[in-house]
Amino acid sequence: ATKEDEQGGRNGAVQADGRLKSEKYFQEKDLWGFIHRSFTKSMGYTEEDLRKPVIGICNTFSELNKCHSHFNELVDYVKRGVWQAGGVPMEFPTISIGEPYIKPTSMLLRNLMAMDTEEMMRAHPIDGVVLLGGCDKTVPAQLMAAASVNIPAIVLTGGPMLNGRKNGRSLGACTDCYGFTLEHKAGNITDEELASAENSVCRSDGHCQVMGTASTMASIAEALGMALPGCAAIPAPDSRRRHMAERTGKMIVELVRRDIRPREIMTEAALENAITVTMASGGSTNAIIHLVALSQRLGRKLPLEVFDAISSRTPFILNLRPSGKYQMEEYFEAGGVPALMKELESHLHLDCLTVTGGTVRDNLRGAETLDRDVIRTAAEPLGSQGGVVVLRGNLAPNGSLIKQTAVSEHLKRHTGRAVVFESPADMEARIDDPELDVDENSVLVLKNAGPKGAPAMPEIGQIPIPKKLLVQGVRDMVRISDARISGTSYGALIVHAAPEAAVGGNLALVQDGDEIELDIAARRLELKVSDAELAERRKRWQAPQSHYDRGYGLLFHERVLQADLGCDFDFLLPKELREELLGAG
Ligand code: FES
Ligand code: MG
Repeated sequence: ATKEDEQGGRNGAVQADGRLKSEKYFQEKDLWGFIHRSFTKSMGYTEEDLRKPVIGICNTFSELNKCHSHFNELVDYVKRGVWQAGGVPMEFPTISIGEPYIKPTSMLLRNLMAMDTEEMMRAHPIDGVVLLGGCDKTVPAQLMAAASVNIPAIVLTGGPMLNGRKNGRSLGACTDCYGFTLEHKAGNITDEELASAENSVCRSDGHCQVMGTASTMASIAEALGMALPGCAAIPAPDSRRRHMAERTGKMIVELVRRDIRPREIMTEAALENAITVTMASGGSTNAIIHLVALSQRLGRKLPLEVFDAISSRTPFILNLRPSGKYQMEEYFEAGGVPALMKELESHLHLDCLTVTGGTVRDNLRGAETLDRDVIRTAAEPLGSQGGVVVLRGNLAPNGSLIKQTAVSEHLKRHTGRAVVFESPADMEARIDDPELDVDENSVLVLKNAGPKGAPAMPEIGQIPIPKKLLVQGVRDMVRISDARISGTSYGALIVHAAPEAAVGGNLALVQDGDEIELDIAARRLELKVSDAELAERRKRWQAPQSHYDRGYGLLFHERVLQADLGCDFDFLLPKELREELLGAG
């Protein structure tokens, strides 16, 4: 039991004395029991309802978050399921994070949402919870909260949008947002055509339809065993998602009865299953940060090498954009995550417990692939390995990532001279300067775009190719930063360099003209500058000022961990792991 358990049972659901948390609220004949019953019955709940397990439904509906715009309707179906199974649903809000609006980057708010979700779950008479998430940062935030609170929990994702459609073509966000904008800028399409494209790419409720971060995290929730089988790929407006919502409502009541909790489900083996599914799906690099953070919430380190090892032995079999051809709608019709996992059976831990109350093996019985062009066989994959590789060396002693499948062949082993940008603003100002001393062999280095530097590690690791090289036909260059990239990026992009420049990682010491060597096969990234010279430069280095002098931004700046440690706040880690990773005090 944690200290909090001992100090009055802040954790649910079944308490040390074998009673549900809600019973303690609603069954006592004392003053607080009176108040709890009286106030609750005033909302229409009856005496009989108060004897049922209370199921919290975390509704992250927001008109500021397009990807969750249909959640009020979904919640109604979850409630139906909860009532049918003999529970009593109580809906509650938390903050909701949608990618398109949030500045400076949604990553700034992931930990805030995780804290909000955790504290809402702890503070209320909730015996179990259904977590409705969808857009990129919401599902990781909710999984992190579930790991920390450890009451029975099921994730219900909102589902992807229907395929965008235009002139017989299938379109997807946001992969096609870039294309149309570029064509318009180049004068190839009119304002009217641009508007029509806008109406066509996003034409229904739901999150982005390609295998970006949202679809990756939905698949991960399912692969972990924290969402019901088949949940991830059902399109948001499809009636079968409503059925899924109802089933989720029924199942959570059963999980409370059986007292099956997230930490029994999200074991080390379950996280390995999630990583395997991510690699086989060509999932987003962002998932790595989220899975590290989740594992640490569960009290376990998750070194980047685990991703590298699983990536090397996992066939890439899902033909979805941005790495492949199709989108989530075809994935759903082909059988979704259960069909993919069935194909990967020999790579998965099949004994893992899931929110069905059964194991992965049980859940995969009967799963089959209905379209072989969408889900390939492990014997005939799209690629023999997953995409993501971990690079180390003096430029990123704590690791950096590159999606090797997206790197041009001639750059996989490359040495070049550094062209350095001190910050995202510096890059913006100078990248297209005709005077910039750069050629196709240069290595573009962007500093101060990491967790503390930018702040919150925005998705700007796809440093643009300088215009003067673009017109010469250069399409890829080695680019290094402590930033993140969107799931849809392409090129020799080395990202998540740790430690970041803003905390004095060696990245901060790179100067124009330094030689940098990349060798993907050897997993190496080296700055060819002597240790003595680096020590000299370090004496002159000054930490950049925080972007914030108060509020949540300042808290973020002071407590956020580096990318290789998942960018969680240090104080949110379990105490023992925190001391092991960061030292006592
Ligand atoms: Fe929400 Fe893409 S904007 S998933
Ligand atoms: Mg995204």
